Amino acid sequence: MSRIAYVNGRYLPHRQACVHIEDRGFQFADGVYEVIAVKGGGFVDETPHLARLHRSLGELRIAPPMSDAALKAVMRETVRRNRVVDGIIYIQITRGAAPRDFSFPPGARPSLIMTARTQRPLDPKIIERGVRVVTVPDIRWARPDIKSVALLPNALGKQHAREAGAYEAWQVDRDGNVTEGTSSNAWIVTAKDEIVTRQADHAILNGVTRLGVLKVAGDAGLKLVERPFSVDEAKAAREAFLTSTTNFVVPIVRIDDATVGEGKPGEVARRLRALYTSFALEGVAR
Ligand code: PDD
Repeated sequence: MSRIAYVNGRYLPHRQACVHIEDRGFQFADGVYEVIAVKGGGFVDETPHLARLHRSLGELRIAPPMSDAALKAVMRETVRRNRVVDGIIYIQITRGAAPRDFSFPPGARPSLIMTARTQRPLDPKIIERGVRVVTVPDIRWARPDIKSVALLPNALGKQHAREAGAYEAWQVDRDGNVTEGTSSNAWIVTAKDEIVTRQADHAILNGVTRLGVLKVAGDAGLKLVERPFSVDEAKAAREAFLTSTTNFVVPIVRIDDATVGEGKPGEVARRLRALYTSFALEGVAR
């Protein structure tokens, strides 16, 4: 079965699915995106993902190409045509195609594309063992809170992690504090049992999974602190983990060459993974 993409009003096989060479997403990374998990054919955390999409569009002053009701209908049709039961949908909106000029083109119509694919969750053995992260300097622009398609630093960081045999790279700011992973948010658990993640300022993407984990942890009465933490603090932490749409909560057992805690997934990460998974599956939108 060939994969089908939605491109500006049409459903097309991938090999025919094209955008214009002067699309501003292609030339300037002038666009935004969302990745939403599909579970049992429904969407996880659909409402906060669409809210963040609107926020990103608003920050870049790109007009939404269609209503949310229409967007949701296209999402469902894209998932249906690709027969995705468990996987992801990718939604991208750019400012559109126009002769290359840095300033906004007056008449451009935003372009909207969607793709969907089946994706298996991470092997449970990897979750049981925990993963390793390596640290890299955060070389991104000053607004990673906008989910823009300008992901070159993230791609370079992830490649560095792959070549180091690690699952993810944690990006580190000039003060030595961890901002976030290349495609995930970063968390630690301190010796005082505080769950720490960086506050959602301009330096990180406010992950939808991050928000869900904050909610379930708060509801369970766990101690939460939103503040920066350093690489040294993370290496000495009792636990560390990461969160993202694609794999929910993933325990970390090594940061660079330091073993975290006892070198196996911690109780807090395990519990939050279970709590968030139930919360996410209960809230699936069809
Ligand atoms: N990435 N930080 C960055 C830089 C990200 O790219 C992502 C998500 C996250 C986690 O956000 P969320 O919980 O909303 O997925 C944090 C997606 C999965 C991607 O680009 O594929």
